[in-house]
Formats: sequence, C-alpha cells, structure tokens
Amino acid sequence: MIAILGAGSLGRLWAATLPAGQVAFVPRPGQATEPVHFRFCPIRGVTRPVTVPWLQSRQTPSLLLVTTKAGDTLTALNANLPLIPTNTPVVLFQNGLGSQQHATEAWPDHPILAATTTEGANRPEADLTVHAGEGETWIGAMNASGEAHLAEVVRWLVQSGLNVHTESDILSRLWQKLVINAGINAFTAILNCQNGQLLEHTFFQQWIDPLCQEISQLLNSAGQPEQTPDTLRARIENVARKTAANTSSMLADVLAGRDTEIDFINGYLVRLGQQHGVDTQVNQMLTERVQHLK
Ligand code: PAF
Repeated sequence: MIAILGAGSLGRLWAATLPAGQVAFVPRPGQATEPVHFRFCPIRGVTRPVTVPWLQSRQTPSLLLVTTKAGDTLTALNANLPLIPTNTPVVLFQNGLGSQQHATEAWPDHPILAATTTEGANRPEADLTVHAGEGETWIGAMNASGEAHLAEVVRWLVQSGLNVHTESDILSRLWQKLVINAGINAFTAILNCQNGQLLEHTFFQQWIDPLCQEISQLLNSAGQPEQTPDTLRARIENVARKTAANTSSMLADVLAGRDTEIDFINGYLVRLGQQHGVDTQVNQMLTERVQHLK
C-alpha cells in the first residue's frame, strides 16, 4: 500500500495514476473516514472518477509520499511518522529547500528521499483534478537508508505511467529548481502578473541582476557547481518565456489567500546567507514583500 500524505493537486495526481487499490490518503487526526471521490482529467483520454480510501490504523504502508506544502510538512510528519514503521521509505515532494534537510535531520532512522517534479496538476474545482502538463519526476536519497530504497521506490512510482527517474544528486536538482523559483515566483506574486509578463516590468529589470549575484554567491557557499549571475539570469528568463502564460504557484497561492512557500524559496536563501556571511538584501526584500501580500 502506498500512503499519500497531502490530498492536494499533486497528491491526487499520484493517487489517480498509481494502480487503483494500492493507494490510500493519510488522514489528519479526527478526519472523516468517507473515501475521497474526485474526477480526474488526464492529458490524454477522458475524465474519469477516482475513489481513494483513507489509510486505516491496521494498515502498514510500504511507501509514504509526502505531498503537503513545504510549510505544513514538519507538522504533518510529526503527527504521522511515529505511526509509520521505521523501514518505510518516505518521499518528500516539497518545493524549495529547507524542509527536506530539516526532515532528514529530525528522522535519521527513516529512509528519507526527496523528489522534484515538473508535472503540472491543478484543481479548477474542488472535486476535479486536471493533469495539465506532462513533466518529469526525479527522486533521490537524502540519507544512506534512503539510498538503499531508491531503486524500489522508483519501480513503484513508474507504475503510474508518469516519467519517473532516479537522481544520484537530488540536492543539486532541488537547487536548480530553487534558482528558477527564486527568480520568478516572488516577482510574479508582487507584480500580480503571469510569468511571461515579468520580463517587461521595470521592478524585475531593476532587481534581477543583483538577485542573481546573491544566488551565484550562495551556490558557491552551498558547495554547488559555480554559475555566473548572467547564466542564472538567462536560465530564469528562459523559463519565464517558456511558461509565459502560467500563473506561478506563488501568485496562485496569494490570489487564493493561501500561505505561500516564500520561506522555503527566497527565505531559505536569506537564512543560508546569514549562515555563510553572504549579503542577501534582494532575497530579503522579496521575502518581506511577499509576506506582506496577504
Ligand atoms: O512554481 C511555479 O509556478 C513553477 O515552478 C514555475 C517554473 C515558476 C512556472 O510557473
């Protein structure tokens, strides 16, 4: 049984694509026991109904997928990991950085893995999950026992039909995504614009170079491969162009009145800068502006 902690868009995408009967959502304390029913609209094919039961106390999951938002993850793990056998692999799907390292330090006895995905899924209606964009999912170990389970975890997850790969250096891959998110998400949330419109705004043009200088220094401090500020800017602008019509996940959170993941994106970079004595005024400014949007 594959247990999924977090029944949002990403959790529902996995629940709908993994073999029926092998998946259950992990209930929150006191949550209703009625199964979750929703409609799933795949990229190809017709919309179909999906029913996912809640994990029962007598059931022992062989794998736990954690698809909560970064800010909810530690609380969710605190409530649930004591009930999960210590040899059950745990795969963390959070955006940004910080929550993965924190979970790995807090639960050294569990096999911990992290994943990053470019699969696009959204919920235009509460009971409808749309697989909006085909992507790739990379999974890698955060600790030695996670490494021992990596091949098995990927074998389970490829049953979904999604593109799932092993990654020998998941931290680097998480960093690559963090760079993109740090250069796009906060700007789109502050400017209330789609990714492609960003490039025309003077606020973005004013701050993108100093932001990339900070990120370039932080990559060095974190022991990541060197990337010049110009390379970083080109990568960020390239993704903004390719996803021009997208509403970024952070802007979507702000518009829906949800907490954003700013503390795990630009906020993470601020904390890292404090540890390494790197000036992060631009990341700090973006973090504070997003924190004040609500
Ligand atoms: O967070 C997001 O929205 C996405 O990672 C990205 C790449 C910025 C595209 O919208």
